[in-house]
Amino acid sequence: MADSGAAARTLPVLNAPIGHDSAPRHVSGEALYIDDIPEPRGLLHLHVGQSARAHARVTKLDLTKVRAAPGVVAVLTPVDIPGKNDISPFAGDDPLFAEGEVKFMGQALFAVAAETLPKARAAAALAVVEYEDLPPLVTAGAALAAGERIEPTQVMKLGDARAAVAAAPHSLAGHLNVGGQEHFYLEGQVALVVPGEGGDLHVWTSTQHPTETQHILARVLACPDAAVTVEVRRMGGGFGGKETQSVQWAAMAALAALKTRRPAKIRLDRDDDMVMTGKRHDFEVDWELGFDGEGRLKGAAFELNSRCGFSADLSHAINDRAMFHADNAYALQAAEIVSHRSRTHTVSNTAFRGFGGPQGMIAIEQALDAVALSLGRDPFDVRLANLYGVSGDLTPYGQTVTDSVAREIMLELAENCDYRARRAAVAKWNATNDHLKRGLALTPVKFGISFTTTHLNQAGALVHVYTDGSIHLNHGGTEMGQGLNIKVAQVAADAFKVPLSAVRITSTRTDKVPNTSATAASSGSDLNGMAALNACRMIQERLAAFALETYGAAPVYTPDGVRLGDQLMPFKAFVNAAYLARVSLSAAGFYKTPDIHYDRATHTGRPFYYYAYGAACSEVVVDTLTGENKVVRVDILHDVGRSLNPAIDLGQIEGGFIQGMGWLTTEELVFDAKGRLTTHAPSTYKIPTAGDRPDVFNIAIWRAGENREDTIHRSKAVGEPPLMLAISVFCALTDAVASVGGHRVMPNLDAPATPERLLAAMADVRSRAGG
Ligand code: MTE
Ligand code: MOS
Repeated sequence: MADSGAAARTLPVLNAPIGHDSAPRHVSGEALYIDDIPEPRGLLHLHVGQSARAHARVTKLDLTKVRAAPGVVAVLTPVDIPGKNDISPFAGDDPLFAEGEVKFMGQALFAVAAETLPKARAAAALAVVEYEDLPPLVTAGAALAAGERIEPTQVMKLGDARAAVAAAPHSLAGHLNVGGQEHFYLEGQVALVVPGEGGDLHVWTSTQHPTETQHILARVLACPDAAVTVEVRRMGGGFGGKETQSVQWAAMAALAALKTRRPAKIRLDRDDDMVMTGKRHDFEVDWELGFDGEGRLKGAAFELNSRCGFSADLSHAINDRAMFHADNAYALQAAEIVSHRSRTHTVSNTAFRGFGGPQGMIAIEQALDAVALSLGRDPFDVRLANLYGVSGDLTPYGQTVTDSVAREIMLELAENCDYRARRAAVAKWNATNDHLKRGLALTPVKFGISFTTTHLNQAGALVHVYTDGSIHLNHGGTEMGQGLNIKVAQVAADAFKVPLSAVRITSTRTDKVPNTSATAASSGSDLNGMAALNACRMIQERLAAFALETYGAAPVYTPDGVRLGDQLMPFKAFVNAAYLARVSLSAAGFYKTPDIHYDRATHTGRPFYYYAYGAACSEVVVDTLTGENKVVRVDILHDVGRSLNPAIDLGQIEGGFIQGMGWLTTEELVFDAKGRLTTHAPSTYKIPTAGDRPDVFNIAIWRAGENREDTIHRSKAVGEPPLMLAISVFCALTDAVASVGGHRVMPNLDAPATPERLLAAMADVRSRAGG
């Protein structure tokens, strides 16, 4: 108390609920986003000319008036590209500017670089474009029927599912449409490129993938990777939407900078961003389950079809993850998972929090609700009976689940939130209220952690210890609000037992840590935390040799300083002494996830190092006259292993849940028959607001949580899994709809469960249930 300085020094840094390092700066406005960087002299502003057709041959592209317009310095088209006109992550099918044929409405045809943004925009409108229309394939269903896909249909198999379903005492089949989702990051796509000498480029961009940005820019510009430096201090949200789809804008700005020798900036406005960048894939799912009289599964078959858009982007891996999570937390016994990846004339869909997992997972949850309803059992009991660890442990891809804690979490949550009593109360309410119906559901999440493309599971870090005892921390991960930087800083501070303030968080840069993976798959802190720890350990090894030689004792790092035998030395004095003895105080750390492998040809292996688990119980109330609804109470129990930072993790759980709730309730993407996205602004696309937050919202981190694998301080990834906890909202809405038919017939409810869909589903249930 008397010596607050000493108290602060001895506070543990690891596992502590420390606020986000940027939080005060976010609030004060001091946090720098790319559009806040003071504009360099001579800056050019870019605006993109877009295709007005979803599918057409471009018969004329006359840019004469565009070039002559006031303030225009350059107009960029494919002929200006010195390298390849391709910004795809691997498939070679994503042109920077369309050539000859346009494949979605909003596709970039050219870009104008002008003295001001209004001038660039006005000039772009002067383009004369003529098209010869071709028929567009807009939906996944239409593309599948036409045989248009981005790769052959993939199949994952465990045993003979169709035979198991046929032999089971009961079976059910159903169909579910699951909508896509716009990322709606607050900071839109933006990049600033400043040319240096000798063709060097410095690129500030809002991306989850600095290395891929660097590599693709080098490919487009036909220059070495080493000429391009990409820097990211932070993103104002990414959510998967800046894993690949940030690259196009950086490439345009880089092309303009290279051509004009002037700095160039591009910043999409919201409507353009929504039209020109990909979203979560929407899916159509057919399912079939065989089960016994207690609702225990005997076999399951799923046929998934997703709208990939005009190019592959990351659709291979995203659809793979949908297959990986078709089982959610349940042992299917026998499984057949067929996955079609349909190529449509719409914007190329991309990564979005959960990466296909949510779309795969929701079908089994709806199917288990149908099983429970058909048997007159509580869906909670049917779920419990089928969990990994209860009824089996083999996944459809041959990985054995050894770490399932779903049952423990579900039981603890059910107890804490009084599930059984509330189930009875909801039934009573529904029996006595005609207009307002309640629904309740408790669902689990099991989410596989690791990039399923095995080589991506690597990371690097760069740590410098300066002679004043301060530490410069750099790693390959990017900060998008998820708290990665503070977590890795905690790891580094803990390694040397210095206060967190001694560790300086810095921008992610491709010239400091090279050849990194995207910050994605929730693996940011798992990978970069380990790489940073590895760098700290390397410096500590050198310091240990020095201390043994100089002081005759190995150093022990403590919050009070470095203990060397009987001696206690301030950290600063110790590292300064090491410097004078010519010890290197800088190290590049590295980490690769052990023990994972996957054979994509057979869809078997151990793609995941471990699983993250959680469960949520949601209660909703639905107005049967209007379809309006409210999530009135949510209880969550989520496993983050031994939390590196419970404050950050709670934020991720809350934010992920709300984002998932938006996906399944109010966020609706509508493409018209011509392929035009009609919901391209917040006026027509509704994300959740503070008012949609459940009145009662209890979130707890599972106390018993501990990673059984040797992850960074036994923590677990948290970025994506909580989004899927919101499936409980969808199931609760289904429950409320079913109540209007006395739970005699299963509702046909698609996602998002908008008021219109709820109203239609209730009318349908009433008619099928016979009034
Ligand atoms: N949280 C915030 N605030 N903003 C984001 O953009 N992205 C999510 C998740 N949480 C995101 C977020 C996604 S899609 C992923 S994959 C992870 O964060 C990435 O970060 P991590 O690997 O460090 O968890
Ligand atoms: Mo997250 S969808 O893996 O960027």
